[in-house]
Amino acid sequence: VTLMSGSSHPALGEAVAKVLGLELGRCVVDRFPDGEHHVEVAEEVRGCDVYLLQPLGPPVDSHLMELLLLVDACRRRGAARVTAVVPYLAYARHDRRETGREPLGARLVADMIRAAGVDRLISVDLHSPAVEGCFNIPVEHLSAMPLLAEHLRGTAAPRSVIVSPDLGAVKRAERYAAHLKLPVAVVHKRRMSGSEVQAHNITGEVKGCAPILVDDMISTAGTIEAAVQALLEAGCAPDVTVVASHALLVGPAIERLQRLSLRRLLTTDSVPRPERLPVPVEVVSIAP
Ligand code: R5P
Repeated sequence: VTLMSGSSHPALGEAVAKVLGLELGRCVVDRFPDGEHHVEVAEEVRGCDVYLLQPLGPPVDSHLMELLLLVDACRRRGAARVTAVVPYLAYARHDRRETGREPLGARLVADMIRAAGVDRLISVDLHSPAVEGCFNIPVEHLSAMPLLAEHLRGTAAPRSVIVSPDLGAVKRAERYAAHLKLPVAVVHKRRMSGSEVQAHNITGEVKGCAPILVDDMISTAGTIEAAVQALLEAGCAPDVTVVASHALLVGPAIERLQRLSLRRLLTTDSVPRPERLPVPVEVVSIAP
């Protein structure tokens, strides 16, 4: 078995290698002067079962391209099997077309990953379980939910309610609620643009409760901001916890989260931590 890490999250690669008692396989990842990626697999992988770890956090396309090149290099060096370990899978939100003018990004990325020579994909908390259907190779869909929920157990405020920040995340919220034996509420959201979101309704009893918002990811934090505002207007206690498997925290995310004065922000190390962090962030490692 050979485990190699691309450049997107070397610290997670090291952490996984440590858990497994392995040395990370050697590879070179840099750039040609014109911006093209240059990768070299320096490890002898002929006949090996290779695991390539590369979460697709920002810059997304660059990390995707690097993954594809690493897979191709392993294949051409004679790897027996290549498993792509992509804890955060970008483009997974493009799993359906809202209008007839859009591509099906998740399907295209899945095809590219397979075409590069990946036999199997391991990912964590895909945007929706339906994304698995975009792949023509086996997908191991892991979840950080048990780790995150365990971290919350016993430390949640007395009258807590699990809140899904949109209709698409209700099933995830129900799993957290079942784990923690808490009720569920749902915020109904409308996305205006890539970073602007409006919340327009709440289903469930939230008045006087401490909300625990659970989502697959925080990108610009527009979803969280809109949900928190709606919850406070509906009479929730100003004691808000946010739990998200993937904290991308791009664009205005940090400022938005700072403005919200969250009590807790809980996430995993599926993507590297931004240098400037909002509020105290509790990070649960998915390396194990
Ligand atoms: C959307 O359906 C996702 O589950 C997240 O709620 C969303 O992608 C988060 O993005 P942002 O932080 O930019 O609102």
